[in-house]
Amino acid sequence: MRRLLYGGDYNPEQWPDQVHAEDSELMRRARVTAATVGVFAWSTLEPAPGRYEFAWLDRTLDRLAADGIGAILATPTASPPPWFGLAHPEALPVNADGVRLSHGSRDTYCASAPAYRAASRRIAGALAERYRGHPALVLWHVHNEYGTVCHCDLTAAAFRRWLRIRYGDLDRLNDAWTTAFWGQGYTDWEQIRTPRATQYLANPTQALDFRRFTSDELLSAYVEQRDILRAATPEIAVTTNYVLGGWVPVDHDRWAREVDIVAIDHYPSDPGAGAEEQTAFAADLARGWARRSPGRPHWLLMESAPNLIYTADRMHTKEPGRMARHSLAAVARGSSGALFFQWRAPRGGAELFHSALVPHAGPDSRVYREAVELGAQLDRIAEVTEGVVGSSVAVVYDEPSAWALQARGLPATGLDPLDEAQRAHRALWRRGIVVDVIGALEDLSAYAMIVLPMHYLVADAQAAALHSWVAGGGRLVVTYFSGIADEYARVRVGGYPGALRELLGIRVEEFHPLGPDERVKLSTGAAGDLWSETVHPTGAEVVARYAGGVLDNRPAITRHAVGDGTAWYVSTRLDPAAYGDFLAEVAAAAGIEPGQAPAGVELVRRTAGQRSWLFALNHSTAPQDIAADGVELLTGATVSGSVRVAAGGVAVIREGQP
Ligand code: GLA
Repeated sequence: MRRLLYGGDYNPEQWPDQVHAEDSELMRRARVTAATVGVFAWSTLEPAPGRYEFAWLDRTLDRLAADGIGAILATPTASPPPWFGLAHPEALPVNADGVRLSHGSRDTYCASAPAYRAASRRIAGALAERYRGHPALVLWHVHNEYGTVCHCDLTAAAFRRWLRIRYGDLDRLNDAWTTAFWGQGYTDWEQIRTPRATQYLANPTQALDFRRFTSDELLSAYVEQRDILRAATPEIAVTTNYVLGGWVPVDHDRWAREVDIVAIDHYPSDPGAGAEEQTAFAADLARGWARRSPGRPHWLLMESAPNLIYTADRMHTKEPGRMARHSLAAVARGSSGALFFQWRAPRGGAELFHSALVPHAGPDSRVYREAVELGAQLDRIAEVTEGVVGSSVAVVYDEPSAWALQARGLPATGLDPLDEAQRAHRALWRRGIVVDVIGALEDLSAYAMIVLPMHYLVADAQAAALHSWVAGGGRLVVTYFSGIADEYARVRVGGYPGALRELLGIRVEEFHPLGPDERVKLSTGAAGDLWSETVHPTGAEVVARYAGGVLDNRPAITRHAVGDGTAWYVSTRLDPAAYGDFLAEVAAAAGIEPGQAPAGVELVRRTAGQRSWLFALNHSTAPQDIAADGVELLTGATVSGSVRVAAGGVAVIREGQP
């Protein structure tokens, strides 16, 4: 059956039976198709070591099956029960200060602790055994938001094992980590520790390798569970929900090969209009990761907020209509559904005011009424699951490279590759150009244009891949502070941007980072902030020069013809308008025209062979007319020539002759 997954985290263990009966009724009215169960239910499922209480979950899955709702069944390993930490104190995590944390929240585990691994395998195996063949089971959800870091001795030993495999011998490690600086040379593997809190600046390569190790260690914990589930139910896909953010020590692109479908949780931090672009960015990032997963090109929005979102200072309300618009925006960009954290708001617990499809106010509420409406909408557009989103532009966001810029000792604070990737994405999004945000510099042939924003670490193989892609006709934009270091975070000497010098036809002699209130002017009238540098062309043409200041008349933006393609370099952070115009010019050179939507309207297409579905998301406060022909699926109306989309509304048009 073609259905979009719609529903959310469901915690019947928090409620008595009469509430379960109401859940059934309310899910039916909202046309929920999927419920994620068991995410943090370890202590309910296994109240004492090896003693399982499955009756409540049996009843839940049976009820879901009877109601025609799929169960996304989670393994509960993100929340080890209190008994676990008491029985295995060595499996509680230790923070960077060397303090062992106690139970009392979630994620109190060390992924390197054998006892934790064994307990996780046991509970995953018990669930697989119990629910294999259950008619409700549609997807396995391993763990929750992998990202816990540990600095205990078990982790240190595992880190050393990982380093031995990576470097083979200590000389290579000492060289890669540049331990000759500050006399950090290691003479025995046992001397190596995780990068705990230290006196002054830490070794950046040690910190970077520890993040890579943590990603691999968590991945092996995931794979272990996945393989148990796969063996029991080969026909059921297995995934885990990615959490986004610079702090997360997970290389999601690398992980994508191991998850059957990429699934993300997305909570935009911008309470205002910026959330629309953040939503598109997250979706395009998920689709970029999905290129590497068996489920490609599909991905899944596993969690989002129906209403209140935590931001730094307070919780922000999602204005009416936004829940549906963001959900449909994710579907437009390739998600196989729209799922929420959470179905019903809890009465207590740590996140007691987090929003839910059934809020504290109950079903007589705006949010639940919008949930009912969204369920009906997703039902009406279910056929779009056939379509896929195509893009000939990629923006690169490589997590390990971004991690390297979390080190201190850099020429400026505020060097933020995620922000830089979002700036490029936003500029293209505003012009209606759909991009994939990709992690790896591999499989580039699908793209006519690539933006490489602040890609600090570039390995030789990556530089070679970019070079041959450009020579084959690609249009590449590289922004400042890219290609500076190799994969060991060692600067490539002889002039920046080492790895990309030849491709860009330039040599950067020195940096001129800018203070918070400093701006540079360009000959084109554009402004730049944050960064500037002394660029010498060694084959590139100058597109724009600095005007005034110490860099007066020196190159600011360059262009280099390479084979059938072109590589541009932008040596400052251009103001958004100028950056947008510049990227649009490069796109035009790559044969990519901007979208034709009115301001404030996002247009995205899913296609399947000759068939296509056009999503028109009106983020503006006025109704907008969109050129289209076909059938508008949300209303069933025939569209000839144009369709009016209400302020804050969405239209989904099956294109072609009605
Ligand atoms: C994440 C988690 C959920 C919940 C939400 C809160 O996505 O997976 O358990 O904590 O954040 O926004």
